[in-house]
Amino acid sequence: MRDSATAPVELLPVAFIDLQAQRARIGARMEAAIGRVLAHGGFIMGPEVAEAERKLAAQCGAKHVISCSSGTTALVMALMAKEVGRGDAVFVPSFTFTATAEAPAIVGATPVFVDVLPDTYNVDPASLERAIAVARQTGLRPACVIAVDLFGQPADYDALKDVTSRHDMWILDDAAQGYGAHYKGRALGTCAEITATSFYPSKPLGCYGDGGAVFTDDDDIARRLRQVRVHGQGHDRNENVRIGLTARLDSIQAAVLLEKLTIFDAECAERNVIAARYTAGLAGVVATPVVRADCTSVWAQYTVTSPRRDRIAASLQTQNIPTQIFYSKPIHTQPPYRGFPVAGGGLPVTERLAQEVISLPMHPYLTAPIQDRIIAAVRAAVA
Ligand SMILES: Cc1ncc(COP(=O)(O)O)c(C=O)c1O
Repeated sequence: MRDSATAPVELLPVAFIDLQAQRARIGARMEAAIGRVLAHGGFIMGPEVAEAERKLAAQCGAKHVISCSSGTTALVMALMAKEVGRGDAVFVPSFTFTATAEAPAIVGATPVFVDVLPDTYNVDPASLERAIAVARQTGLRPACVIAVDLFGQPADYDALKDVTSRHDMWILDDAAQGYGAHYKGRALGTCAEITATSFYPSKPLGCYGDGGAVFTDDDDIARRLRQVRVHGQGHDRNENVRIGLTARLDSIQAAVLLEKLTIFDAECAERNVIAARYTAGLAGVVATPVVRADCTSVWAQYTVTSPRRDRIAASLQTQNIPTQIFYSKPIHTQPPYRGFPVAGGGLPVTERLAQEVISLPMHPYLTAPIQDRIIAAVRAAVA
């Protein structure tokens, strides 16, 4: 039997996201870091949690970082801290992961679905305007928009602020896929009133389980977020000042995050090299992703579009090359969400993208020979 070092490239297994390759880089340090938590035993709010929050704040420049138990919880905490609830409209893209729309529904607000732009797949400010009009007609109070940095690229915060400032709304950045990216030179975490992110293992910055964080520069919102994270606790555990959750980040996950942060910038740079290589190899064959000149992306996904998407997926599958469809069913078409309003004019871009997108393997450890094999397979599928 051949080992993978000697197998021909066409037989090498292809990972969609390769966390084992990352372990080869930092595994020993990671095990030592986890071992330190096991030794001190402070599993809840141990010193690693405050340290990870400090490092994240220093990295993106946010004044406050409140770590928490998942990206979904981070979104819910932000809405709870701002007391968003019944009668409030929260505008969300339908072309995103479910959690973006789930969070407003959990707090009793009404998600109102907005279309995305055809080039960046991020919220379309003109569709947001039309959605606000629909919300007002149905008697809802426009509260905020959840701007998703889809596939790793920031939404257009200045264009969104033009809309939200006219309607007395605020912006919640869902940076679950984009943390580490920059908008006009500013790091995500500082581009909206509140930013939420996820440390789910497959995210560009992931831990070894569930985790997340909320970022804000506002002292009062930060204080409320810390209360929400632990049952609405006030000065001590005998005082409850609001309704809250059990939503802390475990010390072990914080220790994992601290190790991953040491290589995060290098990994983001490597992802960009791999994305550029894909784009050079696939230009003119499929529609390759567009990153705005004033943004950077962390390439949570490398997602192309093609009317022959299903053919590409089937063909790559026969060659053991994994692909994923993010997202084949827009959220507004899913049963729990069908009753919620959508922007005037509907969501035609979202509906087309659901038919045409396909995400290719993307991680910092994708080698050039494997990538060449993927590029050749896509080219052959559409030939
Ligand atoms: C855009 C977006 N928002 C929110 C989440 C939720 O994060 P988590 O899985 O940590 O709850 C995800 C995770 O997949 C996501 O991609």
